[in-house]
Amino acid sequence: MRELRVVIADVGSLYTKAGVGGERLPRLVIPTVLGERRPDLLSPFVTIPDVAIGDQALSKRRFMRLHWPVERGHVRDWSAWAKFISLTLRRMRVSPEECVVVIPFPPLTPDAERLKAAEILIEQVGVAGIFFPLSPLLTLYASRKDTALVIESGDGITTVTPIVDGVPILEAAQRLNLAGRDVTEALLRMLQQRGLMLGAESLDLVRRIKEEHCYVALEPEKERDKALKVPRLVASEATLPDGTKVTLTYERFEAPEVLFTPGKFAVVERGIHEAAYLAVSKCDESYWPLLLSNVILSGGNVQLRNLALRLKAELVKMFPDYADKVSVTLAEQPMFADFLGASILSRIESFMKWVLTRDKWRTEGPEAVLKMM
Ligand SMILES: Nc1ncnc2c1ncn2[C@@H]1O[C@H](COP(=O)(O)OP(=O)(O)OP(=O)(O)O)[C@@H](O)[C@H]1O
Ligand SMILES: [Mg+2]
Repeated sequence: MRELRVVIADVGSLYTKAGVGGERLPRLVIPTVLGERRPDLLSPFVTIPDVAIGDQALSKRRFMRLHWPVERGHVRDWSAWAKFISLTLRRMRVSPEECVVVIPFPPLTPDAERLKAAEILIEQVGVAGIFFPLSPLLTLYASRKDTALVIESGDGITTVTPIVDGVPILEAAQRLNLAGRDVTEALLRMLQQRGLMLGAESLDLVRRIKEEHCYVALEPEKERDKALKVPRLVASEATLPDGTKVTLTYERFEAPEVLFTPGKFAVVERGIHEAAYLAVSKCDESYWPLLLSNVILSGGNVQLRNLALRLKAELVKMFPDYADKVSVTLAEQPMFADFLGASILSRIESFMKWVLTRDKWRTEGPEAVLKMM
């Protein structure tokens, strides 16, 4: 058999991080979006491809119908997902039949979703093999640990997974429809309330403002007090594309509060610290000190300034008996931690034994997919 290439595609709700097994960083980081040319719009001045992905689709958005196949960590549009993966492989110049595709899945993904993904990848995209690792395990590998409380927070979801000696405790894992996108939307609403003319199409811009200017307050009450009494102490100036300057004050730390008090923002979820509390408490108490002293954060959203410090403070409050144990750290390159973990995994000698090849899929069927982790 010809040597198969390993392609890793961490297909997130907002960004896809794709690359080659064995490499430290993804080669491709693009929005998880598929564009299909609108048959009703023709332009003599621009050549519009029939299909495009990521930035290439967004730059032609006026002429394309856009599909975002992944919502809040679930695949919602299988046809667009399949085309998106095919085009991602093409953009990486690998032909499907010569590659094994590794796609991380978050905890608490329904079996039916992984089965459908397997079927589409093998039967439709035509890849030679697949592997669906559990994403928090990848963050763990990337951090070179075997025990941790892994908190992953991207754009659409936040998950909390206790892992002890390399084994995830899935009964205790938590998954929230709450992440970076909610912070972006909270900031957008606050800016709109100030009278700035920003519509839903401004999410990209607001996301960039968020990434540059927002931070998590260590003590929100004190921060509010400070912002009220001496706004200059929390002020930061953002520049809009038209050159207008906007001075942000309380919005900088108030928008990220959605992660801790989602109810106040009309988001029906629990806060991420509460999810962490639940995940730990559902484990045997003998594991608590181990987990609390190894909290690892990954995903783009954990790059919000001071998020790790705030989480630590909240955990100390919720687990006072272990106050001196709590340690919260960011994975190296948090947005690419799953990619790196998968990349490391793909170089382990026994890796090919876990891969579900097309032949195995045809003989063993769906059961083989569910055994894979
Ligand atoms: N420096 C930063 N500060 C704050 N937020 C950031 C920063 N960098 C990236 N983000 C946020 O991280 C999110 C994207 O992260 P990531 O790529 O991990 O998500 P995803 O994998 O697409 O989504 P999910 O895993 O939830 O399906 C966005 O909300 C983005 O604004
Ligand atoms: Mg992700």
